[in-house]
Amino acid sequence: MADAARLGAIDTVMHEDRLFPPSAEFSAKARIPSLADYEALWNEVAADPVAFWEKVGREELHWFEPFTETLRWDEPQSQPQVAEWFVGGKTNASYNCLDKHIAEGNGDRIALLWEGEPGDTRRISYVQLHKHVCKFANALKSLGIQKGDRVSIYMPMVPELVIAMLGCARIGAVHSVIFGGFSAEAIADRNNDAGAVAIITADAAWRRGKVLPLKQTVDEALKKSPTVKHCIVLDRVNEAVHWTPGRDYWWRELTRNASDDCPAEPMDSEAPLFILYTSGSTGKPKGILHTTAGYTLWSKKTFEWVFDHREGDVYWCTADCGWITGHSYVTYGPLAAGATCVLYEGAPDYPDKDRFWEIIDKYNVTLFYTAPTAIRAFIKWGDDYVDKHDLSSLRVLGSVGEGINPEAWMWYHRKIGGERCPIVDTWWQTETGGIMMSPLPGAIATKPGSCTKPLPGVIPKIIDEVGDECGPDQGGMLTIAHPWPGMLRGIWNDPERYQEVYWSKVPGKYLAGDNARCDKDGYYWIMGRIDDVLNVSGHRLSTIEIESALVSHPAVAEAAAVGRPHELKGEAVAVFVTLKNAPPSDELRDELKKHVRKEIGALAQPDDIRFTNTLPKTRSGKIMRRLLRDIAAGKEAVGDTSTLEDYSVLASLRQDEE
Ligand code: WTA
Repeated sequence: MADAARLGAIDTVMHEDRLFPPSAEFSAKARIPSLADYEALWNEVAADPVAFWEKVGREELHWFEPFTETLRWDEPQSQPQVAEWFVGGKTNASYNCLDKHIAEGNGDRIALLWEGEPGDTRRISYVQLHKHVCKFANALKSLGIQKGDRVSIYMPMVPELVIAMLGCARIGAVHSVIFGGFSAEAIADRNNDAGAVAIITADAAWRRGKVLPLKQTVDEALKKSPTVKHCIVLDRVNEAVHWTPGRDYWWRELTRNASDDCPAEPMDSEAPLFILYTSGSTGKPKGILHTTAGYTLWSKKTFEWVFDHREGDVYWCTADCGWITGHSYVTYGPLAAGATCVLYEGAPDYPDKDRFWEIIDKYNVTLFYTAPTAIRAFIKWGDDYVDKHDLSSLRVLGSVGEGINPEAWMWYHRKIGGERCPIVDTWWQTETGGIMMSPLPGAIATKPGSCTKPLPGVIPKIIDEVGDECGPDQGGMLTIAHPWPGMLRGIWNDPERYQEVYWSKVPGKYLAGDNARCDKDGYYWIMGRIDDVLNVSGHRLSTIEIESALVSHPAVAEAAAVGRPHELKGEAVAVFVTLKNAPPSDELRDELKKHVRKEIGALAQPDDIRFTNTLPKTRSGKIMRRLLRDIAAGKEAVGDTSTLEDYSVLASLRQDEE
């Protein structure tokens, strides 16, 4: 009792006892084949991170000049707190993703297996990708773009998007990829904040058979982007476009006569590699800055550890390069590891709802990485779409972006993994550069809904409101105690915000902004963002736990729980529910309340349940809780809605109330 009353600890209501150890067969071939091996490695790194990373850094990256100091880190509180890794060394991310494999005799290996939405395909070897990247890098140079210049990229998921990223990295230009669904306004904000000198785009993109006019959106954005002098346009769809001579260039014309010889620029380890904008809890998006050596090494190592990658694997990450998952696990991590990667341009339900399973079947994908929001959609669409295809090539399944509800986890395990594939539920953030906590598939038994244990080099500490470390099963703020190579190096143009958001609340430790608990077995459970915690009658409840209870009901496809002010309880639980097939009814509403009561307890029973056809989501698929909170409270939705997937969802939710 004394523990439960501890100041700032969050009560947990979720109990999950199912345990899924890797098969002996899987472990026997795995890079890290047992729990004891994982623990030995984790302890080795924790005991002397500098010695470990010095060795791995030297062995696994190519150095034009060796580094002289592995980590420079002024403990505990320099202002702002920035770690520097591999100081004094010179390397290049593009070199590590391309030239290194060619030098090692693997140039003929396929790098990209691309599938366009309309069904066109391309196979690109490492040698060919290297040529494309060199030509494009020379094209950038021909426009006068130099080391340190910022370049925005606003493109569909075509090979040229990866080529553009690596082309920038090759000459030391800093890319800022903007997801192809953002508005002109959002593009202009990002161009201006970064001071971008150029933008790379396409005439248009395919989306569910329709044409999205990217160039037209960029034209709009460039009216408000005074720093952007050049616009490079790939002809993907053959759409007619407006042309501004002297500013606009066709990709193909610019690269046609460019030389395919472009040696990679030796870059300082800490030279900026890219900026990626992500939303904070309030205000304008933050430009998260990652640098060259540490990020490249972290994305490569974590890719190899978590997916147990080996030669012969065919890997597919369904994320768009507009998000960090696409940076670290479509482009840099897998290519630095010399992997063969599927790249898919379009939507999961085009031309039909089995497109993903068709692609896995066609390319014999072995490692598959997707998001819970997609998994919940697949469940809603029904098993028939899955049953049409042979998924027996799969050996590891990944999940990222939000917590995966245990029932969705079980479906993924049974239906997609054939009860054979370990599921790696990977917790990390734009800021962390790569995966931080995840099962190592040959070593760590999984529990549905838990991201299990920290990777080697990651030292999580869960801290309560008064700054003390929480005990087993006590929820608190998740922090990371020691720098790791892939960590962010700042917020572009805003050192104060960087210090304030990540380093001020718990001095000396990186504040992730998530709540978490660690159970008695040392397994971590993410409980949602710090501001997603509800306080109902003095009990702090995690939204994810309530949502998981709802999703475990057979009628429910997806659920979002938020708090709304309540006279007696402080906060009442309001939930938004999408149904699979059942029609909404008062009976069902009562049944769901009882269901949550049964699954969790009376304190978590929702006060209101609203049925809706879709939940409002950011373009990366995250439920927009801030907006739902406002709707639940009967207020107008406020705040930055530029990432709303569909405004009509909001309108229909409001109407529902009237
Ligand atoms: C959430 C995406 C639970 C979390 C890579 C984090 C997760 C935020 C998980 C970062 C997971 C991501 N389990 N929650 N496996 N993965 N999150 O920056 O709240 O887009 O802080 O990076 O997503 O989102 P971001």
